[in-house]
Amino acid sequence: QPARTVDIVEEESGAPGEEQRRWEEAQLGAASLKFGARDAAAQEAKYQLVLEEDETIEFVRAAQLQGDEEPSGPPLSAQAQQKESIQAVRRSLPVFPFREELLAAIANHQVLIIEGETGSGKTTQIPQYLFEEGYTKKGMKIACTQPRRVAAMSVAARVAREMGVKLGNEVGYSIRFEDCTSERTVLRYMTDGMLLREFLSEPDLASYSVVMVDEAHERTLHTDILFGLIKDVARFRPELKVLVASATLDTARFSAFFDDAPVFRIPGRRFPVDIFYTKAPEADYLEACVVSVLQIHVTQPPGDILVFLTGQEEIEAACEMLQDRCRRLGSKIRELLVLPIYANLPSDMQARIFQPTPPGARKVVVATNIAETSLTIEGIIYVLDPGFCKQKSYNPRTGMESLTVTPCSKASANQRAGRAGRVAAGKCFRLYTAWAYQHELEETTVPEIQRTSLGNVVLLLKSLGIHDLMHFDFLDPPPYETLLLALEQLYALGALNHLGELTTSGRKMAELPVDPMLSKMILASEKYSCSEEILTVAAMLSVNNSIFYRPKDKVVHADNARVNFFLPGGDHLVLLNVYTQWAESGYSSQWCYENFVQFRSMRRARDVREQLEGLLERVEVGLTSCQGDYVRVRKAITSGYFYHTARMTRSGYRTVKQQQTVFIHPNSSLFEQQPRWLLYHELVLTTKEFMRQVLEIESSWLLEVAPHYYKAKELEDPHAKKMPKKVGKTREELG
Ligand code: CDP
Ligand code: MG
Repeated sequence: QPARTVDIVEEESGAPGEEQRRWEEAQLGAASLKFGARDAAAQEAKYQLVLEEDETIEFVRAAQLQGDEEPSGPPLSAQAQQKESIQAVRRSLPVFPFREELLAAIANHQVLIIEGETGSGKTTQIPQYLFEEGYTKKGMKIACTQPRRVAAMSVAARVAREMGVKLGNEVGYSIRFEDCTSERTVLRYMTDGMLLREFLSEPDLASYSVVMVDEAHERTLHTDILFGLIKDVARFRPELKVLVASATLDTARFSAFFDDAPVFRIPGRRFPVDIFYTKAPEADYLEACVVSVLQIHVTQPPGDILVFLTGQEEIEAACEMLQDRCRRLGSKIRELLVLPIYANLPSDMQARIFQPTPPGARKVVVATNIAETSLTIEGIIYVLDPGFCKQKSYNPRTGMESLTVTPCSKASANQRAGRAGRVAAGKCFRLYTAWAYQHELEETTVPEIQRTSLGNVVLLLKSLGIHDLMHFDFLDPPPYETLLLALEQLYALGALNHLGELTTSGRKMAELPVDPMLSKMILASEKYSCSEEILTVAAMLSVNNSIFYRPKDKVVHADNARVNFFLPGGDHLVLLNVYTQWAESGYSSQWCYENFVQFRSMRRARDVREQLEGLLERVEVGLTSCQGDYVRVRKAITSGYFYHTARMTRSGYRTVKQQQTVFIHPNSSLFEQQPRWLLYHELVLTTKEFMRQVLEIESSWLLEVAPHYYKAKELEDPHAKKMPKKVGKTREELG
C-alpha cells in the first residue's frame, strides 16, 4: 500500500496573477517541495524511513509572515545565548535599548500601554527596571499579572534567577492555592485572578506602587475586570503607576479605554516565517501532528519544534505517540526530545522545556496556548499548528457552560506562526488548508467575558461594594442575559437577597477562592456535619479529571483498579474514596502507582485541601465528619449544585430546569446504572453534551436544599411507573 507523502509546495509571495499560477501549480504538485531539502538524496532516504510506517501529510507553502530582520541574519542560537552571561542576555533583549526612554515614559504618565512582540522582554525585564529604579522603596510592591498559572510561575523563577535571588524572597509568585511569596517579596508575579482577589483585602491596592496588567491582549475575564477596577483606583491614587502590556494586538483599544493613555512601542525583532498549509483537510489532527513532527525531524535542518495542542490529555497522548515511534525508529533517526507543557504540569517538568537542546538532538515542545504569547522558548524554528484551541462557551439561556475544542482565530494562528521567527527565519506548518484559514477562522478571539458564566466575578464585585453592575466600566460588556443569570443564580444560592445585596452567606462564599457553587457546597457541609468529606470532594474536583491514568499496555489493570474505587452514589464519592484510601496509605506514591492513580494530582489535591481547610474558620465552618453516612455528603453537594441536575425521561437524560438533552460520561461510575435523578459537576461538549462527575440524588433533596428554586410539581415524575425501555440500563433492570 503506497504511503501518502507530505508534499510541501512552495509559493513565493508575488503578484496576484503569479500567486494564482503558483497556487495552481501547487495544487497539481508541480512545485512540490520536500521540506526544502538541500541534499535531496540524503533527505529522500531519511524520508523513506518515516514513510515505512507512517502516512505523511502534504503541505503547501502559501504565505510569508513578514519579519523585521533579514532572513539571512545571524541566528541567535539558544546555545550561544546560554553561554553568555545572564546579564548579557538581558542586554540583548529588544526592550533593553529602550530602558531609559521607557522609565521616563512611566515617570511622566500614570497609565502607559506597552506594546511589544512576544519575547521582547516585557514580562521579565520591565518589573526589574522598575525595581532598579526604586519603585519598591518604602516597602512598596510591584504586581505583574499573568492570565496563566504556568506563566506566572515560570516567569517568576526566571526573574529570580536573573536577579540572583531565591524564588519567594524578593521575587515570588502567587497563584490560586499556591503562594510562593514572603514579607520580602517586592516583585509579585501573579495570576490576574489573584490580583482581583487582592482587592478584597486591599481595595485601593495601597501597598502597590506599580500594577502591570500583562498579556492584556488575551482578554481573559479576570484581566477585563481588572481593567475596570484599576482604572477606578488610579483616579484616587495618582501616584499609582498602571502598565498595560500586550503583544501587538488591540493596543489602540486599551489606550482609548484608559482615557487615551500613550502607547509605548518596543520595536520587534522578528525573522520572516514561511507558512505552509496542508493540501487537504486532515481528519485526525493528533495523528497528523505526530506524523508531521517526524517529517520535520527527518527532513529539516536543525531547530526545535513547537506544537500547539489544546489540552493536557491531547498533549500526553501526542507525546506518548511520538516517543513510541521514536523508540521504534531507534538509531535510524537523530535524537528527538519530546517535552510537554500545560497548566497542570509540575514545575520541575516545566523547567525542562527551557533547557537548551543538546547538540545533535532536536527538541519538540508540545504545548497548549500558553506558548502562544505567555512563554518564550529559545531555539524554536518550526511551529506546527493544528489550528485548534480549547474554548469556553456559555449559553445564558440555558445556563450551560462548556469547554470545547474549537478552531482558533486568525490572530491566534498568526501569533503561533510568529513563534517560529524569533531566533532565525522559521517555518510554520498549519494542519489546515489555506482555504480554511481564509474562510473558516474568525479574525480575533471573542473576549472571555462574553462567553463565560459570571457568577464568580459578580459575587466578587458585589463584595467590593459595586452594586450597579450594568454600569460597570467594561472594556467590552458581557451579554445582559449572562449578567442577569449570574444575579439570579447567586440569589438562588443565597448569596444575594431579593434586592441584589450581598448576604452574610454571600460574603462567606466570596472568601473562598472557588466557584460559588463549590463554596456553597462547602458552607452547606456545616449543616450536614460533613466538612471533612466535603473538603476532600472539593479538593478532588479542583484538580480536574486527571486522577486516574490508563497506560496503553495496561488498560485492563487500570480499568479494574478504577472500578475498585466505585461506591454506590456516584463519582463524588469515588473521588472521596480514592483520597481517603490514599491518606490511609500515608499519602504514598507507591500506593498511587499500584492503583493507577496520578500521584501528582493527588499531591495537588492535598495542597488544595489544606488551603481550603485553613479558610474554614474564616467562614465559620467547623471540622466534622459524616462517619460513613454518605447521604449527608450527597445532600451537602446537592446544596451547591442543585442548578446542575438532570433526570431520566423517556428520551434519556434532560436537565431539570431547561430540558436540555445530556449524557452521562462513559468514564463515570454511574454510566451503567443510569439513575433517575442526578447532579453533575460540569458539562463537556465533545461528540455529545456529557455530564462529568455525576452523583445520584433523590428529587426530594432538591426541595430540602433549594425550596425557593424548585416547586414540588416540577419534580413529580410522570413516567415513574413506566421507565423507557431502551435508554441504557435503568437501575430497575440491573436489579
Ligand atoms: O514578555 P515578553 O514576551 O515580551 O518577553 P519575556 O517573557 O520577558 O521574555 C524575555 C526573554 O526571557 C526571552 O528571551 C525568553 O526566552 C526568556 N525567558 C526564559 O528564558 N525563561 C522564562 N521562564 C521566561 C523568559
Ligand atoms: Mg510576556
